[in-house]
Amino acid sequence: MKISINANRCEPSPMRKFHPLAVKAKKSGAKIYHLNIGQPDIATPQAFYDAVKDFSESTLAYDASPGAPILIEAIRNYYKKLGVELEPEDILITTGGSEALLFTCLSILDPYTEVIIPEPYYPNYTTFVHAAGGVIRALHTGPEEGYHYADKKRIKKLITKNTRAIMVTNPGNPTGVVLDEKEMRMIADIAKENDLFLISDEVYREFCYDDKYGIPTMGRFTDIDDNLVIIDSVSKRFSACGARVGCVITKNKELQQALLKFCQSRLSVATIDQIGASALYSVDEKFFADCKEEYRRRRDTVVSALRNIPGVMVEEPMGAFYVMAQLPVDNADKFQRWLLETFRDNNETVMFAPGAPFYETPGSGINEVRIAYVLRQEDLERAMELLKLGIAQYRAECMDEE
Ligand SMILES: Cc1ncc(COP(=O)(O)O)c(C=O)c1O
Repeated sequence: MKISINANRCEPSPMRKFHPLAVKAKKSGAKIYHLNIGQPDIATPQAFYDAVKDFSESTLAYDASPGAPILIEAIRNYYKKLGVELEPEDILITTGGSEALLFTCLSILDPYTEVIIPEPYYPNYTTFVHAAGGVIRALHTGPEEGYHYADKKRIKKLITKNTRAIMVTNPGNPTGVVLDEKEMRMIADIAKENDLFLISDEVYREFCYDDKYGIPTMGRFTDIDDNLVIIDSVSKRFSACGARVGCVITKNKELQQALLKFCQSRLSVATIDQIGASALYSVDEKFFADCKEEYRRRRDTVVSALRNIPGVMVEEPMGAFYVMAQLPVDNADKFQRWLLETFRDNNETVMFAPGAPFYETPGSGINEVRIAYVLRQEDLERAMELLKLGIAQYRAECMDEE
């Protein structure tokens, strides 16, 4: 028997890679501060649970393959408020943004065709692109330039006859980089002029910490209707990762038909989760304002703590809830292993996601980490203290004198 080439080209998730070591550390009584996974700790709005409780059908049936009409309507209304007019058929509900990404890749890629993605990027993109037989052409950025990638020349240089799409995450995971209006327009123009799909993953749209960005979406550019594919999700917006509800949005009719086939093949997204998710779209604006404020505070805590550690290179992220930083260690993977196996302060230690798997380019990100600031303020402060202590001890014990 044989495992497929496409599956063999995929990598295990870097966010979960150290899970067995973490389990072992916990079994030994250690407390771990998890900065490795983008799972928000903010309470999901009660509206979700109320809607689920009120569900009274005697049979739990499949919902429609394109998605529950009530949820599609709720999403249309939400987009209308953002200034984006959508028809019901422009929205296909998926099992999280993850399935939206997978179905998009399966719909637009053939073996050896290419997607341009700025790196570092969300590592599961590799799985989605490779599952479809595609290739990632990475637009390399690094800590010294604050991971900014909106450079017309650099993007255009990567376009080949095999390019099918440009994919951006805005706001960015893992970098927190946010595109301003001019940069979004420039990328939209490149997609339009070169007849490429523009996959805009906007699952962190509400989390922009400078008011100049507003609530960004490529959806307002109506002249790229044929090119644009928006990836969206309730996971981060409503702190509802376990609902597993997202959507793919496109006005490209041919692509809609292709996506629909994949939606039909998995019959339906979970019926009850869609009911809960549709109620989420009616939550008060205050929920977003409060969340944003909380994350802004956490970002400030993490960035100022990182700036206090000698040798760390970090730029203040403008969106999402991640920060990428270069640490004064030889290898972030080795450092994480050591933190879990050896380092303890008051029987506590800390976890982050090592940086290398966020890059396609070999050798990049070796001493970088992604920190998800998804813990309460006091826990974040303690986690950053542990990181500082850990770096000092690791440098003294595990690294040769520089
Ligand atoms: C950039 C980005 N896109 C998509 C997703 C998928 O999330 P979900 O499947 O929960 O919607 C994530 C999750 O962390 C993400 O960070």
